[in-house]
Amino acid sequence: MSLQPIGVFDSGIGGLSVLQALQAALPLEHFVYLDDSLYAPYGERDDAHVIARSRAITQYLRHTHGIKALVIACNTATMAAVARLRAEHPDLPIVGVEPGLKPAAAASHTQRVGVIGTRGTVTSAKFNALRLSLQDQAEFVVQPCDGLADAISRSVETQDDSKVISLCADYTCAMGRFGINPGEIDTLVLGCTHYVFAQAHLAKLVGPEVRILSTGEPVARRTQHLLEQAGTLNRNGPGRVQLVTTGEPAVLQAAARRWLGFATDEAVRWIA
Ligand code: DGL
Repeated sequence: MSLQPIGVFDSGIGGLSVLQALQAALPLEHFVYLDDSLYAPYGERDDAHVIARSRAITQYLRHTHGIKALVIACNTATMAAVARLRAEHPDLPIVGVEPGLKPAAAASHTQRVGVIGTRGTVTSAKFNALRLSLQDQAEFVVQPCDGLADAISRSVETQDDSKVISLCADYTCAMGRFGINPGEIDTLVLGCTHYVFAQAHLAKLVGPEVRILSTGEPVARRTQHLLEQAGTLNRNGPGRVQLVTTGEPAVLQAAARRWLGFATDEAVRWIA
């Protein structure tokens, strides 16, 4: 069992940011990364679509790759489907990602926290319950960013970040003032795994004093903990990564090269 891979999936390339953190924490593990581009974006589709895709992907990763654990490297899919997947796969350790509202509230001095995510994530019941539970600790300025994940994906093909930059500018501008003075947003939560790849642009827009939080590292720690508990850590390494996509393999490979510095084996297509 310990030699089996860990499955990681996202609607597209965003989850590569989580894979990066997982590899850093667990260098001896094998991973299968599933990019569901053909059925993306998830964030602007209804829950039924995201749940159906999450269930089909989990089945595929279990039956074809024999995964020993699953990381849902997508906030939108976690919000919509994690409870269902856990109920259907009680024997499989499953880790989800959700916007880091709690660490952000604890870190903020102005008590004003910005959150950007997909429409699916920020309108979900799970997200709003989390937000409500922290409302006495900070005020959350929440901005759905339609089109941003898609623009980030397309920028890999076009090698042109101008659309990403203009969307980031529009959305951060709509949120109000960023900074460390009273009343300003001093902490920005990236509530979508794609946005990690726009972090440099976002940092320029919000200024150097604003803290930007993403969730790759806590997810990696949680995964490590669950594998330790299950006694299935791989101690033999070196770890390998297999890239699988329902979309265009060349695009996933290009993204892995651009952002992870991977010189990987070829990505393969899953005809789902
Ligand atoms: N990367 C996904 C997330 O973290 C969503 C992108 C999409 O809309 O498909 O929510």
